[in-house]
Amino acid sequence: MTDINQIRASLLSRIKPSEAEKTRLATLAESIIERINAIAEKEGISASAQLVGSSARGTWISGEHDLDIFIMFPPEAERRELEEKGLYIARKLAEESQSSEERYAEHPYIHAIFDGFEVDLVPAFNVESAADIKSAVDRTPFHNIYVASMIKGLEDEVLVLKQFMKGIGVYGSELKTHGFSGYLVELLVINYGSFVKVLEAACDWKSGITIDIEKHGCMAHSDPMVVVDPTDPARNVAAALSLDNLCVFIDKACEFLEKPDEAYFRAEVPEPVDDNEFKNILAARGTSLLAIEFTAPDVVEDVLFPQLHKLEESVREMFERYDFCVYNSSVWADKKAIVLFELESAQLPKVRKHAGPFVWSKEHAPAFKSKYKGSNTFSNVFIENGKYMVEIPRKYTHAKKLVESRILNCALGKHLALSIKKEFHVLEDVEILDIRDDDFRRFLRRFFEK
Ligand code: UTP
Ligand code: MN
Ligand code: MN
Repeated sequence: MTDINQIRASLLSRIKPSEAEKTRLATLAESIIERINAIAEKEGISASAQLVGSSARGTWISGEHDLDIFIMFPPEAERRELEEKGLYIARKLAEESQSSEERYAEHPYIHAIFDGFEVDLVPAFNVESAADIKSAVDRTPFHNIYVASMIKGLEDEVLVLKQFMKGIGVYGSELKTHGFSGYLVELLVINYGSFVKVLEAACDWKSGITIDIEKHGCMAHSDPMVVVDPTDPARNVAAALSLDNLCVFIDKACEFLEKPDEAYFRAEVPEPVDDNEFKNILAARGTSLLAIEFTAPDVVEDVLFPQLHKLEESVREMFERYDFCVYNSSVWADKKAIVLFELESAQLPKVRKHAGPFVWSKEHAPAFKSKYKGSNTFSNVFIENGKYMVEIPRKYTHAKKLVESRILNCALGKHLALSIKKEFHVLEDVEILDIRDDDFRRFLRRFFEK
């Protein structure tokens, strides 16, 4: 325990915001809120600003300057009005920022930088209760009220747990990560009482673990973890968490308690794989690598990554339909997007065994027999395990050719379809070394070493 206490103390001295940082953040938040309210008043728009998220709750990690500022509209406002006027105010304010961009996920908002702080300006409806929300972000102010009423004195526990999750790579509810959200971390600390108690509990979790702090009674969910939202009983706060990220947390929680180490709190950045190393890895594994490369469409990660995973899944199914065996696959994106596959082999024999109907299937048997009689086959129609069988030429003997010919028949999200129709490349084995991007090379190391 002294080990853990020492680790905690040195960690907190690093990640806990100083009084000066707190003041700087509060002053900036106040000034932005005042400016938003002034713009709304001047334009005769009935809306007012509010600080939410970890910076409103004292649970942000020092140096991570993320201000979540909501522009609240009356509940009876139209969605179109909220989007138009909300973005109007946000754009107007963003004129005073260092830089800004509009982002659209499920909901449009503006991301701007003021004095080095990242500021999300999000229009939302000021609904009566979280059960009446009109858009997904409307829950956030209720989270704020709930957490603020429960978190006093537990802020440090939240910081330590957040940093632990960042260190082991499971923090963030974005669709790129599928991890634990900040709100979920806060609820875990509220439920169990401390960082160590969360870890002790997690060590015994199983898939299906359910936490219902306010004893709302649980709706049926099939998610790996269910945390009933105290402010909205129908909502699972852990809905975005993947089974594997839940399990990484369970595994690391047990490991850490057994042998505490400050290394758990540091996200290690792998070294980029260099050309020689890559060739050695390929030779040693004896598998084939195939990278589908195209320009990443200019959309937020929460839109991009689900589309990349959809493509990954659908190409994997196609490979398997055509007898290619997929070992591993993953996706990466920056300016370019890559979907990477490791295949048992990218090359299959020219001959393919093709099964027909059972011999007693009087309806289909004659058609099968006559279709393959005397046609371009490697064998006569023969019988195996009660079925007619014939050996015929394989249509795609090469995985690269298959992808090049049929990728447009795969399930493609809207934005990916546009980009891939314009241009894509399939790179094989050492051709992948044409991609020189350091971050991609780091991704390659993680792909192999896990
Ligand atoms: P943030 O993603 O900024 O998280 O969302 P955070 O809690 O402030 O944590 P950090 O410290 O920045 O990482 C702001 C608020 O939006 C709601 C939560 O109420 C959160 O506090 N939110 C966000 C969700 O309810 N679910 C999500 O998946 C993301
Ligand atoms: Mn935040
Ligand atoms: Mn944010």
